[in-house]
Amino acid sequence: MPGIVIVGAQWGDEGKGKVTDLLAEHADLVIRFQGGNNAGHTIVRNGEEFKFHLIPSGILYPGKACAIGNGVVIDPQVLLGEIEGMKRRGVDVGGLKISANAHLIMPYHVLLDSAGEAKLGKLRIGTTRRGIGPCYADKAARLGIRVQDLLDEAILRKKIMAALEPKRHVLRPHAKHPALDLHAMTDEYVTYGHRLEPHITDTALLCHETLEEGGTVVFEGAQGTMLDIDHGTYPFVTSSNPVAGAACVGAGVGPKAIDEVWGVAKAYVTRVGEGPFPTELADDIGRHLLERGHEYGTTTGRQRRCGWLDLVALRYAARVNGLTGLVVTKLDVLSGIDPLRVCTRYRHGEGAVFDDFPYHQSILHSAEAVSEELPGFEDDISECRTIADLPPAARDYLAYVSNFVGVPVKLVGVGPGRDQVIWADGERPLRVAA
Ligand code: GDP
Ligand code: IMO
Ligand code: MG
Repeated sequence: MPGIVIVGAQWGDEGKGKVTDLLAEHADLVIRFQGGNNAGHTIVRNGEEFKFHLIPSGILYPGKACAIGNGVVIDPQVLLGEIEGMKRRGVDVGGLKISANAHLIMPYHVLLDSAGEAKLGKLRIGTTRRGIGPCYADKAARLGIRVQDLLDEAILRKKIMAALEPKRHVLRPHAKHPALDLHAMTDEYVTYGHRLEPHITDTALLCHETLEEGGTVVFEGAQGTMLDIDHGTYPFVTSSNPVAGAACVGAGVGPKAIDEVWGVAKAYVTRVGEGPFPTELADDIGRHLLERGHEYGTTTGRQRRCGWLDLVALRYAARVNGLTGLVVTKLDVLSGIDPLRVCTRYRHGEGAVFDDFPYHQSILHSAEAVSEELPGFEDDISECRTIADLPPAARDYLAYVSNFVGVPVKLVGVGPGRDQVIWADGERPLRVAA
């Protein structure tokens, strides 16, 4: 009963969408388990680019069952826009399923996200302002509105009233905002409900049945380990758990359903938004990574901060996710940088050295990256399709990373296209079974 979890092993945007698309070909179900439309997952097929924020990255296979699990927060307007956009491009979205238990992003969540960031000023998190944090906060406060509530107008109205009540004070400046009118909001969301109804189902049951029948389920993570609300660089994190453990909760399966956990990491590191980033580069190499890697956010268009590969953080990600495989993307972006550097420990203050990711925020904020120098490579590797095709320095780089982290490399990205990959075991697995 193979279940494979794909997680971001860094700060997001590692290339999870592309990896999910590749594994989806032979999967029976792809399910998103957390996050919302803060995510932006890119797939490039035959030169055509697709960006997904809520729809799972398996949807490009006609009829493929793709589910948005209970752990996801859904902005129905965004989801409907995405569905319509895909239909216009000729994509069959008939296989899309939406959990009745997933929580909904409401107009007040979006307003509260922006207001919260504005209030924090210099201390802001740099959120995507999509309402993610306020929506998860309402879920935890048991004031959330769920997909199933869209199907009963009376219940929906009551729940919106209850959710608005404790927010009256903070929402006062927006009291006249048309999107906050109780009746207009209820009517609008009821309409969304009618349009989404054909897709609404018990996705946990679907997942269970697929696995019971011997099918393969790909659990598609969003964001990344270092943005995890428990294990990331809190408070500069998102409001969900992007780590592999959350796949069970956010899809509704037990831990035994998971056979493999693949962590996706760029061959370097990027981060969007604020927060500590020990290997950040503010020099020509940082600019090389930004330009060659086209490091601009898929969701907000913001420039991503770039830096050397942080192996302290990556080994930590391997541990907290229980990685069984590593996917190294964007190796092609490193060509032309010689020598390369990788961070192997942090130094803090007068001589304190950290081999493990420090738990204390103050240490991480002023940690200095201690790095090793590795030989670089000049060659264009975008046409390489086997490990043997790679220049020796690129192969050594992968071997160094894999040894340091203690996880085998399964897949390497050498370009954005779906064929621009190297399957490390020589061929692509038909089924990713343990
Ligand atoms: P995700 O959020 O983890 O799915 O990643 P994003 O889609 O936000 O960002 C990854 C970007 O890198 C996208 O523009 C991809 O098309 C691109 N990409 C993925 N893999 C590779 C690769 O191996 N090489 C290059 N050059 N680009 C890649
Ligand atoms: P994918 O799935 C990169 C970042 C934001 C901000 C922090 C909190 O494409 O990898 P939020 O809106 O979630 O409250 O913002 O998290 N962030 C991401 N960074 N990739 C993402 O998703 C992200 N989703 C959120 O920039 O720093
Ligand atoms: Mg992204």
